[in-house]
Amino acid sequence: MYKTCIEVDSLSLHRPNLKKLCISLTSQSDHPLLVLRGTKNKITNSEHWIPKLYFRIASCLLSCCDLKCRVFKNKLIFTKLSSCFCGIIPPVAQQLHRENIQRIVREALSLSKVSPSELSAIATTIKPGLALSLGVGLSFSLRMVNQFKKPFIPIHHMEAHALTIRLTNKVEFPFLVLLISGGHCLLALVRGVSDFLLLGKSLDIAPGDMLDKVARRLSLIKHPECSTMSGGKAIEHLAKQGNKLYFDFKPPMQRAKNCDFSFSGLQHVIDKTIMQKEIEEGIEKGQILSSAADIAAAVQHTIACHIAKRTHRAILFCKQRNLLSQSNAVLVVSGGVASNLYIRKALEIITDATQCTLLCPPPRLCTDNGIMVAWNGVERLHAGLGILYDTEGIRYEPKCPLGVDISKEVGEAAIRVPRLKMKI
Ligand code: KG4
Ligand code: ZN
Repeated sequence: MYKTCIEVDSLSLHRPNLKKLCISLTSQSDHPLLVLRGTKNKITNSEHWIPKLYFRIASCLLSCCDLKCRVFKNKLIFTKLSSCFCGIIPPVAQQLHRENIQRIVREALSLSKVSPSELSAIATTIKPGLALSLGVGLSFSLRMVNQFKKPFIPIHHMEAHALTIRLTNKVEFPFLVLLISGGHCLLALVRGVSDFLLLGKSLDIAPGDMLDKVARRLSLIKHPECSTMSGGKAIEHLAKQGNKLYFDFKPPMQRAKNCDFSFSGLQHVIDKTIMQKEIEEGIEKGQILSSAADIAAAVQHTIACHIAKRTHRAILFCKQRNLLSQSNAVLVVSGGVASNLYIRKALEIITDATQCTLLCPPPRLCTDNGIMVAWNGVERLHAGLGILYDTEGIRYEPKCPLGVDISKEVGEAAIRVPRLKMKI
């Protein structure tokens, strides 16, 4: 059995904003799995472990993270009004989604040579995310569901991120997942397709959001080497040229013996440092500091240590409670920030010290994408979980926690994490 993913290049459709407003169409039989979405690269998966399934799924991903990217792409490419470090403009994104969703679905279906009647189900992100975009995706999908009389599979955005690894690697339940992106930050134990224990989450903003804010504050959009990069990528790039020891930012929440995260306090400290440096160097806000690379290196190191420490505690907690195997545990890291190699190395130090295996989906599957939603649909269809034949009363949910929250119990266990040398 083999799988092939054929992807549509949205740039060739002259609609770069649609790269992530993707409708994935997954058709999997005993032969190929076709995934159509708006991105350029062709990917081929050769795994053979995936059970033989005989169905096709159309999935729709419209939540807030993709929306954010689309808006910035749109602004960057069409209006050039703003930078890639800018934020969400919901009405603009909603309008773009509305205008384009039908065409994208039609193109995806025609390119896959699958007619809507051949689909086995339609899977759509309905939670959590930005109400405006969830609404567009849901109402469009329900129209399709009713028109073609298909079962509907509502998808939780984080669940889709967490399960993506099972598309590319042979990973059995249970495993630990760390989701770090511009919109999410959480640690959860994945016990089954829809069986999650939430161990910890960010109490304020997500690490990608913080990196974007720092990059914006450092005006990295004006830096010749970083102007086309996302905030996080720009920080990673610049950090390679800097000295992380030049600034001593303290990792947050050192005394709290739980698996929660926090980034906004640190961001505040960094903002103050930047302001002070601007005064020292005699430059205006908006100009690039000579110490920008050192700041980037120190910021990256500090958040890597923070993320690694919380993850280390989560591994120890799960092992202490026999929730994870003592010698064969798997840590999956996903989300846009997971593509940061420095943070990955920090996590590798932790997994090496705890005899765990660290796995990350390939970068294009780490960030928001339609394939993960389609795959989540495949997993649910196969497990017979959450397949709706009647969509009466179905609503999108802008806020929706993942699984059962046991973070309080994790905090009460107050596990001491041994100090590890973070030589990265
Ligand atoms: O998963 P994603 O595409 O969408 C969200 O859910 O937000 O992640 C985007 C985030 C952005 O905040 C971006 O700055 C960050 O991921 N990011 C990175 C890197 N590449 C993207 N952060 C750190 N290092 C990177 N190399
Ligand atoms: Zn996401």
